Amino acid sequence: MKNNRVIVAGGAGYIGSHVCVDLINNGYDLLVIDDFSNSSPESLNRVREITQLTDQSRLGLLQADLASPADYQKIVDTIKLYKPAGAIHLAGLKAVGESVAEPGRYYRININATHTLIDGLDQADGRMIVFSSSATVYGDHNKSPVDETGRTGPTNPYGQTKFFIEQILTDTAISNPHWKICNLRYFNPVGADVSGLIGEDPNGIPNNLFPYIAQVAIGRREKLSVYGDDYPTPDGTGIRDYIHVCDLANGHVKALNFLEQDGNNGSHIFNLGTGVGVSVLDAVKAFEKASGKKVPYEIIQRREGDIAEIYADASQANKILGWQATRTMDDMCRDHWHWQSQNPNGYGDIKDDNKL
Ligand code: UFG
Repeated sequence: MKNNRVIVAGGAGYIGSHVCVDLINNGYDLLVIDDFSNSSPESLNRVREITQLTDQSRLGLLQADLASPADYQKIVDTIKLYKPAGAIHLAGLKAVGESVAEPGRYYRININATHTLIDGLDQADGRMIVFSSSATVYGDHNKSPVDETGRTGPTNPYGQTKFFIEQILTDTAISNPHWKICNLRYFNPVGADVSGLIGEDPNGIPNNLFPYIAQVAIGRREKLSVYGDDYPTPDGTGIRDYIHVCDLANGHVKALNFLEQDGNNGSHIFNLGTGVGVSVLDAVKAFEKASGKKVPYEIIQRREGDIAEIYADASQANKILGWQATRTMDDMCRDHWHWQSQNPNGYGDIKDDNKL
């Protein structure tokens, strides 16, 4: 009988919670490992609500820090006891600017977390990992659409950790042919589950475009700063490949299904994007249309480290995994707005409600 148990490291986060929903809907049983350093346990309650989970044992939780030596043994022992088929690995720090200011912290946490997970899975005989890598590993070296053979060269410590972890996982698969690895290079995830119950809830001032636009639309911030309109793009603003987080989540299920098949040992890389490039001003217009709100903006200077344009060639994921993004920019804006307008302060509202 197929082993349906999967560890979801970082499962309470923005992408992780959407991955949990899709895995549960596809019959998997989960053990989430999360320290809630950049997430809320409430997201897992919402996952239970969305999936109408009656058997609570299908979504277990270990609150622990995968990067902490103090938690190492507890985590490895718990994974051994759980006996999973493998893991989805989304645990780590992800703020580009912060990684430039605190590189040691980024290297230590993101890489140590990976080693703990590898050790636990190795000892549990569950040698399968789907890893949340990033298009950031391509840096500024390629003409878009970029495929998986594109030149790599991340431009900041956060991106370097993604690149190094891909290497660590690949070397692990070389050392022991039982290992099965998928490195998923995400483009720019946005949107939310159609229920509006889970979504992105950044700490403090958002770094990324969509959460910032959404907070302007809801009135939490006055205006968006557009980082430069002098790029060599049609309207001068940066072009990215925005992908609906539910399409992205489904890519993990498809990757897991692929690894489960006999013979797919070793390490694989897949871009997950739509293949469509959208400018900052296009995104603002689409969000205004979906929300019915004005999003005031001003053009300021370029943000250091930004590139003009990147979008995916995701044909490998289509060919090998049978995966394709199906949701449009309008869907992304509608669902992002639905989440934001139902939860103006993210999961923070829950903490406040509990005080009453
Ligand atoms: N932008 C603005 N104003 C803002 C925020 C962003 O104009 O307030 C612009 C950026 O200059 C860029 C675009 O919007 O042109 C997208 O910026 P994001 O910060 O949303 O996304 P990035 O493409 O810079 O980076 C994201 C993630 C990284 C990931 C990378 C993969 O933040 O974690 O995509 O390419 F690695």
